[in-house]
Amino acid sequence: MIRLGVNVDHVATIRNARGGEHPDPVCAAQTALQHGADGITAHLREDRRHIKDSDMTRLRALPAPLNFEMAATEEMITLACALQPHACCLVPEKREEVTTEGGLNVVDQISALSPLVMRLKDAGIRVSLFIDPDARQIQAASQLGVPVVELHTGAYAHGGVGELERLFKAADIVKECGIELHAGHGLTYSNVLPIRNLPGLKELNIGHFLIGQSVFEGLGGAVQHMKTLINSGPTP
Ligand code: PXP
Repeated sequence: MIRLGVNVDHVATIRNARGGEHPDPVCAAQTALQHGADGITAHLREDRRHIKDSDMTRLRALPAPLNFEMAATEEMITLACALQPHACCLVPEKREEVTTEGGLNVVDQISALSPLVMRLKDAGIRVSLFIDPDARQIQAASQLGVPVVELHTGAYAHGGVGELERLFKAADIVKECGIELHAGHGLTYSNVLPIRNLPGLKELNIGHFLIGQSVFEGLGGAVQHMKTLINSGPTP
């Protein structure tokens, strides 16, 4: 069964638009879990534009795996080691970006990442690297000894020519390296079906579409619908 991690960042985006407490991303996480989500993902950004530190503490208290998405910075590593989430997914972060635009450049930062990954591992946290479907990046992740990589599906979701094939090739390399495969970014009901067939895929992390879709069918309905879709029979 492919696990579904629900990213609740955009519930916080809506809450923060009015500066109050509603809608609460932690209540959204509870609803998602009641309707088939296997875990919750939240990205604590440097500028705290959506999720706040107190949200992370409350999400950690839920009886479900928490995937803490974060930049590979001293501040975030220290916060994560104190919070002790189930997993940390290291992502690139630029202040000016609307969303996480590309994968982490592990190849060029391997020596800087190494001690940070080690600190998370020593704290008993499962480390994942969010990378593009690129053989060199996967090999660098393997050198760092991470148990998980999450492949960035954004280029595929945006209709890039050859991107699905690239993801399949990358999935094979991830498997050869003995790393667990996750994927995410830009996934919807319409484009998720080919992705669920990636060899060795264990988890999808989906946020923006599910939160948007909950306007029409409720968050519980959207989560249930996606969970069924990613675990239904072979793609026609
Ligand atoms: N996985 C990672 C590592 C991400 O950074 C994001 C976006 O926050 C997602 C998955 C979910 O992407 P989307 O919101 O487009 O579903």
